[in-house]
Amino acid sequence: MVWKFASSMPNHVITIDGPSGSGKGTIASRLAKRLGFTLLDSGALYRVLGLAAQRANLSPDADSDAIAELANNLDIGFGRPSIDSPWIEGSVWFGIEDVSLAIRTDEASAMASQVAAISAVRTALLQRQRDFLSANGLVADGRDMGTTVFPNAAVKIFLTASVEARAERRYKQLIGKGIDAILPALLSELQARDARDTQRSASPLKPANDAITIDSTAMSIEQVMFQVIDLVNKKLG
Ligand code: C5P
Repeated sequence: MVWKFASSMPNHVITIDGPSGSGKGTIASRLAKRLGFTLLDSGALYRVLGLAAQRANLSPDADSDAIAELANNLDIGFGRPSIDSPWIEGSVWFGIEDVSLAIRTDEASAMASQVAAISAVRTALLQRQRDFLSANGLVADGRDMGTTVFPNAAVKIFLTASVEARAERRYKQLIGKGIDAILPALLSELQARDARDTQRSASPLKPANDAITIDSTAMSIEQVMFQVIDLVNKKLG
């Protein structure tokens, strides 16, 4: 398929929301690259905050005010792929430290979803996410991009897949990197994160009313990408 537009689409926002392991991170980054749009990996903000909270010995249950304060002053940066983690699309920095790998552990994932449930944290990070809007256009990946952060986005996609398929993908990813993994444990971790993300009162994970849902359970990344590009073409082309 020929990509028809890039620089001719100023200020367009495309949101891609969905549960962990649905493939939205990969799709968002490929799409942003293809369009020449800025990419917002909003999950990385919550992951860095989780790491910062953990290092400060703060508990999401007992220290929500202190964690919201951390969120207000979080020194986070995005950069090129790092030497330590060339397979990760872009590096993520906490102050002067490259935390691209540290924020991707299962422990960091669990901590991120706990700090993300704190309402004051979401308020603290809202403007920071909106600051990613750029003249080039934006692809925003997360849980509430289409519902809360960019409610006026031109294209909203909700990318999902069965929890079993998502656990299996994560399992293969870890094994492929030579990391030991236990499939049933991954499945229950994902179920716990899904429950936290969908059942929290502040900006829960759900499709926006005007989002198009794509179920990638039986699809390859290439098939999803094809469908997403087709959709973007129809909406914006
Ligand atoms: O997308 P990613 O898996 O990196 O996100 C980590 C965690 O951050 C998620 O499990 C979710 O709890 C939280 N998150 C969120 N809202 C977003 C992005 C991520 O609550 N927009």
